[in-house]
Amino acid sequence: MQNKRVYVKSEAGRGWADTASNDPLEMAATIQPCCFPGFLQSWKITVEKYLQPFQLSPETLQEVSARLRKDLLRGLGKHSHHKAPVKMLPTFVRATPDGTEKGDFLALDLGGTNFRVLHVRVEEEAQKVLKMDSQICAIPQEMMLGTGEQLFDHIATCLGDFLESHNLKGQTLPLGFTFSFPCEQLEIDKSILIRWTKGFNCSGVEGKDVVQLLKEAIHRRGDYHIGSVAMVNDTVGTMMSCGYKDQSCEIGMIIGTGTNACYMEEIKNVKRIEGEDGRMCINTEWGGFGDDGCLDDILTEFDVEVDKTSINPGVHIFEKMISGMYLGEIVRLVLVKMTKDKLLFKGQISEALGTRGLFETKFISEIEDGLENAKKILTELGLDWSLVDASVVRLVCDTISSRSAYLCAAALATLVNRIRNNRKLGHLKTTVGVDGTVYRKHPTFSSKLQKAVRLLAPQCDITFLVSEDGSGKGAAMVTAVAQRPAHQSRLLEESDGEDNEEEEEEEGQ
Ligand code: GLC
Repeated sequence: MQNKRVYVKSEAGRGWADTASNDPLEMAATIQPCCFPGFLQSWKITVEKYLQPFQLSPETLQEVSARLRKDLLRGLGKHSHHKAPVKMLPTFVRATPDGTEKGDFLALDLGGTNFRVLHVRVEEEAQKVLKMDSQICAIPQEMMLGTGEQLFDHIATCLGDFLESHNLKGQTLPLGFTFSFPCEQLEIDKSILIRWTKGFNCSGVEGKDVVQLLKEAIHRRGDYHIGSVAMVNDTVGTMMSCGYKDQSCEIGMIIGTGTNACYMEEIKNVKRIEGEDGRMCINTEWGGFGDDGCLDDILTEFDVEVDKTSINPGVHIFEKMISGMYLGEIVRLVLVKMTKDKLLFKGQISEALGTRGLFETKFISEIEDGLENAKKILTELGLDWSLVDASVVRLVCDTISSRSAYLCAAALATLVNRIRNNRKLGHLKTTVGVDGTVYRKHPTFSSKLQKAVRLLAPQCDITFLVSEDGSGKGAAMVTAVAQRPAHQSRLLEESDGEDNEEEEEEEGQ
């Protein structure tokens, strides 16, 4: 049997060891970051005080996964749903692609850093989703915080300009609208915004049907028409775009500006939906995990601060520990504290380091990618650094991005374990479509996440497929699949009462 390197903790200390053991818990110890390169050993005790709260043991991750499992049930329950922090929103997507879809579509993608318009062609013969053309429109910061009418007029203008410049104005194409915020979807083309997340906070949109707001804005212009509309969350778009290539893709996951995942759930378990047969894609909105305080024991003082100073305090707590919108700020707060305590940069905080939002999440990827990058970024931030400072900063970045990867792994493990239990399978083979800048751009994030999820869900064999242009192409795919005959589902009225959660408790968890 071959030896492998594992990270072990004992009373004598921690470190890497070579072992031939296959014991899952011993192996699970490898998911702890190995923090202290030789020359930093003398700093170990001092630095560990700051970083230790970010290091989650395999047992803690298992506990996080178990808590999320309970929350998924609350979100799916007919009576418990309205109080559930993890919303588990039905998407009305009842089938993944089967390869017969075809046609030309428009797609809009709103929810990340940019707004995009796309013209997409789905070719059945070639089994391909082709992006014919696309255009990015910036959304100015003021607009993200302005009125809904301004935002939708801007979207309608960008779409109009795109149709004009691509000679598509005379056609009435079906449109897939990727709107990456939590929405209560009543039908495929009726979707009520529950609340804004990430950097958006436009007035007059929460509680309204976003498809209607888009149609009204297009109507106000009156110079072009669109065909049927399908509303899609970016997780769903990601799953569907990968689903054309790999028909076992039943999970979509985003780790970018925000984080979230969707998966195919048995309709009989979605108590708010009429019907018993088949499956429906559920947008979990796992970013809201912890909004009821159930993760308070693992929050650090820095997470609490990031939440407090965000535009939506108290909501999307899990997202704030994980996603690109917040990771840079967490690192900055740790560095500021260490500097104030005279551990870094000779105790001098530069103006940039002292300013909220100026330590960007992309710096984390760059810094972890190499010491030279770290030196360059610290210089650009106006810091008087030493070699030890630069190495400690890399360690801080590594610790915080690793925590993010491990928390995502715990959440993903919950989903794959649930799918496996739903289908009463001893072993599940499945594919996850993934997108998002943190997952794509960080040098070790994806490998850490994959390794950890293998340990937390050992009976699941997961293939990860990075989605190319998922939000755009996937929205077209949802529109195409929605045109296939399928029986309709209806959302049931909400009411107070007890859900029989016991009934649904899964075995073997
Ligand atoms: C936020 C949104 C969610 C989206 C995710 C990733 O969590 O609430 O709808 O999927 O960001 O973009």
